[in-house]
Formats: sequence, C-alpha cells, structure tokens
Amino acid sequence: MAIALIILGAGMGTRMNSDQPKVLHPIAGAPMLVHAMKAGASLEPAKSVVVAGHGAAAVEKAALAYDPAAQVVIQSEQLGTAHAVAQAQPALDGFEGDALVLYGDTPFIRPETLAAMTAARLTHDIVVLGFEADDPGRYGRLIMQGDQLDRIVEFKDASDKERDINLCNSGVISAKSSVLFDLIDAVGNDNAAGEYYLTDIVGIARDRGLKATVVRCAEAETLGINSRAELSGAEALFQSNARAAAQADGVTLAAPDTVFFAHDTVIGRDTVIEPNVVFAPGVTVESGATIRAFSHLEGCHVSRGAVVGPYARLRPGAELSENVKVGNFVEIKNAQIAEGAKVNHLSYVGDATVGARSNLGAGTITCNYDGVFKHHTTIGEDAFIGSNTMLVAPVTVGDAAMTASGSVITRDVPGGDLAVARAKQENKQGFAVRLFEKLKSRKAKGS
Ligand code: UD1
Ligand code: CA
Repeated sequence: MAIALIILGAGMGTRMNSDQPKVLHPIAGAPMLVHAMKAGASLEPAKSVVVAGHGAAAVEKAALAYDPAAQVVIQSEQLGTAHAVAQAQPALDGFEGDALVLYGDTPFIRPETLAAMTAARLTHDIVVLGFEADDPGRYGRLIMQGDQLDRIVEFKDASDKERDINLCNSGVISAKSSVLFDLIDAVGNDNAAGEYYLTDIVGIARDRGLKATVVRCAEAETLGINSRAELSGAEALFQSNARAAAQADGVTLAAPDTVFFAHDTVIGRDTVIEPNVVFAPGVTVESGATIRAFSHLEGCHVSRGAVVGPYARLRPGAELSENVKVGNFVEIKNAQIAEGAKVNHLSYVGDATVGARSNLGAGTITCNYDGVFKHHTTIGEDAFIGSNTMLVAPVTVGDAAMTASGSVITRDVPGGDLAVARAKQENKQGFAVRLFEKLKSRKAKGS
C-alpha cells in the first residue's frame, strides 16, 4: 500500500518564546521537523506533505533541504488539527493509498511503531497511535470498546471519568487518504477550544460503521516538545539513546555522558571515542579509529585506523584516509589527507590534497583565502613540510619534496626539491655578550 505522510507543523509554539517556528528548533543538529520526516521516511512514502503556517518560508526551506520531493502546503490560520490536515487534500488529490498524520514537534516515533500501524491498517479503517501515560495531563483520551477504539475525547471536553483514563492519543493517525478527507469534511468546531479536532474523525468513523483501533508505543516515543526545557530534555534523551546504540554497535566510549552525537553520525566497530568529543552533522567514522579527547567533527569522513586529536577540529569536507594522524590544535577543512599522512600539531589545512605518507610539521598553514577567492594547495606523496611553513595557495609541493622551516612558499616546489623561502641567517660573533653588557649597565644607571 502506497503511503503519503502529512506532517503538521503550522503551530506557533508560543511556549518556545522564539522568533523561530517551533518545528525548526534542532535536536542533535537537525530541526525536529526533520526527525519526524526521517521517522516517516522509514515507510518509503510515495508522497510527503508538510503543513506549514508560522514561519512557513523557513519551514519549507528546511523540509526541502531534507527531502526535495516534499510538498509544503500553507495553513494560514491555525483552526485545529483537522483543519491542518485538510490543507493537504489538494496535494493528495487522486492519491489512492494511505495517509499517515505525523506531528512536526513529535520527533522520536520509531520506524517499528509506524510499521506496526501499517500492519494494523490491514484490519482496521483507522489506526491511532496511543500510549499509557504515567501522568496523562492534557492529552486527548482514547475511549476503547473491547479492542476497538470508539472515540477520542480532548482533555478540555472530557468528563472526570474520562480524564481518569490513562490511554492517551499521540496524535499520529493512519487511514486511507480518501477516507481521511471524507471524515474530516464532517468535523465541526463545536467544542471547548472552538477548533476543528482531527481526533473527532474516530467517532464519526464509528457512526459510519468503520473500524478503528489503537497501536500502543512507549510514552518516550510520543514525547512532544513545547518549551525550551522540553527541547533540552529531548536532546538529552536523544543523546542517551545514541550513546547506548553506539556502545551496542561496538564503539568504546570512555565517558559516554560527555560525547555528543548528531542525528546522522555513523561510527564503525572498535572505534574508541575519548571524553568530550562532539559530532556535528554529516560525520562518518570507520572501524578501528580513535577520536581523542576534546575534538569537534563535522561533515567529515575518518577512515579505519586514523587517529584524531586531542583537541582537533575536522570541518566539512575533511577526508582522512586509513591511518592518518591529525593531532592537537589542528583544523582540517575541505581537504583529502591520503593514507598514513601526518598533521600532528597546530596546523590549518584547508582546500588541500595531501599525498600518502607526507608529514606536515608543526604550524603548517595553507593560506587558502585571498580575501575574495579560495585557492587549492596540493602536496604530493612522501613530502616533508617544515614547521611553520606558509603554503600560499594556489601552490603545489611535489612528491618527496621538502620545505625548510619558516618558509613562505609562493611558487610550486618540484618533486624531490628542497624549497627554502626565508631570510638568510647571519651570525654576529660575540655580539650578544656585548649587547647584554650594554643593556645591564644602562639599567644600573637607572636610565
Ligand atoms: C493534540 C491532540 C491530542 C493529543 C495531542 C498529542 C487534537 C485535537 N488533539 O492536542 O488528542 O493527545 O495532540 O500531543 O488533535 N497544528 C497545526 N495547525 C493547527 C493546529 C495544530 O499545524 O491548526 C499542529 C501543531 O503545530 C502541532 C500539532 O499540530 O505540531 C499538534 O497541535 P497542538 O495544538 O499541539 O495539539 P494538542 O492540543 O497538543
Ligand atoms: Ca501539543
């Protein structure tokens, strides 16, 4: 059965107290909207429709950045969840499959749970995702009749007896697309909030002789984010899950609580991660690498056996081949470092290629930026870059070439050559002793 996702994200999120729409606040480096879209993507949907309202332009940009095929529709007035879903109808006109409604502020639904909902759809017209809440608070309550879901009652409209029910509505609902929109057409707004409740479709469906049921999941999965405090709570939950998953996958974390993952971090088996390492989005680390303490990695690839840090920064486009060493206070950006090369101390390597087994001495800098354009530095294999070499790009240092320490290299260095590009040293015999005496006697005279 083809599936269309309808992801609601039009709400303002008043309690975030933010200029940014709520669903764009990030968890593990990705907007919470993208987490919801990723969860839905596990069903390989034929279509994804995002309902935007507040900050629609920014929401659209984020949605399309993740899924260029997504359709964004606008709900200009937030009249309730049924009204929000109705905005997706034109986008799904003639769509024969199922529609699954997700919330942009509910980022942790697991693919297994969505698969269970899809399975339940084989026997029921409407499937609602529910959970047993420790403290049901203001959630909508699911009123069951045997194993059938009879209706959903919103907290505001519930009787005391109904409020005692702790089986709650997560908001996630699945039905055949055409059936969903038919039911929504019948939803009114005569309720405590004066809103068009999506939840009303269940009662309407039962009156029409359709069958509804509930798939249950853990409360943590349906966690919705409404405030900064809940956002940090969600981040903490994401991180503790990611740490546990990394360990289960065979990654050593010396101090798990101090390692931070992004939503898409991939780490191979037998890699060791020391304390206080941060992974921003887009990082892949192969097996058997070591990421030493206090390193920050983003948009980079670290191959098998490489050692990074302590205190290293890998920026987007850094590609370390096998057994590369990147040491303390080294920054690498948009650069391919070939097998076995070493950049051990205090260097900046940006917009560069470094050949296999080359050694970059302490304080090597690729001067890649002229204030307007970026330029490339090419270093061959088995080269030796002396400490404190400035490589003024565009420039090429050939295979097995050397640069003398302190050189400012502005011209290409042919393979096998030694480039010395610094002022020649002159020694003045005995001059230091005489100068010291002169300075000391001046001090003694107090001048
Ligand atoms: C909703 C459910 C409730 C459920 C709870 C779970 C309804 C009527 N109630 O209540 O049963 O227990 O979620 O968290 O559905 N949105 C729009 N446009 C609107 C209104 C909402 O896009 O006009 C979006 C919001 O941005 C949000 C989601 O829909 O992502 C849920 O809306 P919200 O107002 O938070 O619903 P709740 O009152 O929490
Ligand atoms: Ca809510």
